[in-house]
Amino acid sequence: MLRTLFVTTALPYANGSFHIGHIMEYIQADIWVRNLRMAGHTVHFVGADDTHGAPVMLKAESEGLTPQQLVARYAAERPTYLNGFNIEFDFWHSTDSPENVELSQDIYRGLRDAGLIETRQVEQFFDPVKGMFLPDRYIKGECPKCHARDQYGDACEVCSAVYAPTDLIEPYSSLTGAKPVMKSSEHFFFKLSDPRCVSFLQKWTTGKNCHGAPRLQAEVLAKTREWLGDGQSEANLGDWDISRDAPYFGIEIPDAPGKYFYVWLDAPVGYLASLKAYCQARGLDYDAITDPEGETEQVHFIGKDIVYFHALFWPATLKFSGRKTPDQLNVHGFITVSGEKMSKSRGTGISPLRYLELGLNPEWLRYYIAAKLNSRVEDIDFNPDDFVARVNSDLIGKYVNIASRAANFISKHFNGQLHYAGDRAVLEDNWRTIAQGVANDIESREYGRAIREIMGQADQINQAFDAAQPWVLAKSMADASDEQREALQDICSCAIAGFKALSVMLTPILPALTDRVAHELFGLHRSFVWADAAVLPDHIAPFKHLMQRVDAVLLSQLFDAPEALEATAAPKGSADSSQASSEGQAVDLPGGEAIAPTITIDDFAKIDLRIAKIVACERVEGSKKLLRLTLDVGEPNMRQVFSGIQSAYQPEDLVGKHTVMVANLAPRKMKFGMSEGMVLAAGHADEKANPGIYVLEPMPGAVPGMRVR
Ligand code: MSP
Ligand code: ZN
Repeated sequence: MLRTLFVTTALPYANGSFHIGHIMEYIQADIWVRNLRMAGHTVHFVGADDTHGAPVMLKAESEGLTPQQLVARYAAERPTYLNGFNIEFDFWHSTDSPENVELSQDIYRGLRDAGLIETRQVEQFFDPVKGMFLPDRYIKGECPKCHARDQYGDACEVCSAVYAPTDLIEPYSSLTGAKPVMKSSEHFFFKLSDPRCVSFLQKWTTGKNCHGAPRLQAEVLAKTREWLGDGQSEANLGDWDISRDAPYFGIEIPDAPGKYFYVWLDAPVGYLASLKAYCQARGLDYDAITDPEGETEQVHFIGKDIVYFHALFWPATLKFSGRKTPDQLNVHGFITVSGEKMSKSRGTGISPLRYLELGLNPEWLRYYIAAKLNSRVEDIDFNPDDFVARVNSDLIGKYVNIASRAANFISKHFNGQLHYAGDRAVLEDNWRTIAQGVANDIESREYGRAIREIMGQADQINQAFDAAQPWVLAKSMADASDEQREALQDICSCAIAGFKALSVMLTPILPALTDRVAHELFGLHRSFVWADAAVLPDHIAPFKHLMQRVDAVLLSQLFDAPEALEATAAPKGSADSSQASSEGQAVDLPGGEAIAPTITIDDFAKIDLRIAKIVACERVEGSKKLLRLTLDVGEPNMRQVFSGIQSAYQPEDLVGKHTVMVANLAPRKMKFGMSEGMVLAAGHADEKANPGIYVLEPMPGAVPGMRVR
């Protein structure tokens, strides 16, 4: 039966650029959505910026902007990231939109009519200079426990004590430095402790979706039980303060001048606002999609830090304003970078924008993240060595390798024609079953398991190919018997059918790469869908370069501050892709890597290569890799070039030699000084398994300044 789904990711705060945690969440959701679409289901996949609240207001103010201007700045960046990583939202909206104002106020009226809103006087810290109530994070003072100074109003970063801002010793406003005063004002509360809410939430959290699967993951359910009780323990659910006083960047509460919704009231309503705007833009029926009795499944992808809002407040808000409640929450853990927690303030971690700017392939990241994800709320770690190994050994060494080997025989000896000696139905059934298993794994968010299955199949295809020794058959093609020809064609055809099926299975994860496979190799004028896995191809176009190996040196630049870059002329070295060659795969790639895509003579002419004489050479203090070369290129001044060849040469052995340098490479500022070009050197792609770096030297007679062409 074909399904209709409404899928969202958490709405990112609009006071900063996307970080790798956001991108991870979008990649997870995007893979899930693509998987469903490939099976023919209809998915409405929307996101939006979460714009309201004190941080946006205050940050805008400090930059002399209106909140709307600040929000617009980040909104303008979003497509670069989303398109860059092939994340295909249908629509991106904002919580600062007319749809959201209307929906939030409507929902509030619904809750009020249900008797679930009440007001109370609340005493809070107030900054008399700024004239505003202070959120906890803008109050600082001395920790009441360990007496560390300048701690935040909710918890101590030194001793981890948790407390109320009023417990701080000598509190001050971090906005103005003023001593806050206690002031009372009227607040609006959503009565979550009402027995109706508690009993609804107990049912909702333990319930199943329309497929009979639990709505919440086991560990998420366990968490909600701490708040809701589990039959034995009492519910421990406080009423929820949903109002903030002016000045506040938010949505006005109806019939309550000067009062605004706390950002977390209107933020999830932004899911509906985005859906509504999207429906208006596309002529879709919003009411049908959000009908409580309707068929559409509502699914939210979120991180573990915002479970409280999504498993309690949000369903209760929807339920008691008479709306459809979510069918499923898909909660993921956090991504750390080399084992370190990301911190926006300290700026550690890696920038997704820099990743794109460096020209790193976005699908490497999609693959790597997918390989690490499962359906549990576990943190995952981005580890650069692991990243290089995974991508190079799996995607290049196993998957792409199948096509590059088998397609060459087919193009050369059979004019691209495939033929299967065995029963086609058996082959088709086999791939159909395997693909179905992978689709199921993706649906249940076991992406790592799906990838293990795919790579296990790739191993089997490569092994069968090797065992059949097609290169032996191919050698004597000129005087081969029909049987020999048929055997060669069958071996290659089966491998290519497998490659096609694996491409279909990888489509949710690697949409751009597999689109190229579909178009360029199999002549399909659309993306793969699941049914394609069991359609045996009858033809394949000549193999084209599909994907570059990860260059570990380039990847390492993701982690360096730009001025601390250790540029290097060393050839592509992948830290640990030794598996690829030790397992006997990818052995037929020259120098361990596929030839790069074709360029024109004009492209080549842009590179100005010159003969250079190494007039001086020395080790660079503080670097294990670099040598500092002083080069005579026939110009009045010498050039300084840093080159990552320390492991291969003694400095004195290079002095007096001639070599070739890229003379028109943009100079690059490095930790140790300017590098004004690059010296050419050769080496195997898999530096670990095949060590050795060889600096180029011209034949005798070449003199400094001569151009190499
Ligand atoms: N604005 C709220 C969400 C409102 S939803 C109605 C918010 N924004 S956020 O920008 O801080 O986070 C957005 C999403 O990114 C959340 O799901 C959060 O869990 C996720 N992540 C933030 N840091 C993360 C990692 N380090 N790793 C993975 N996901 C992380 O919360
Ligand atoms: Zn402390």
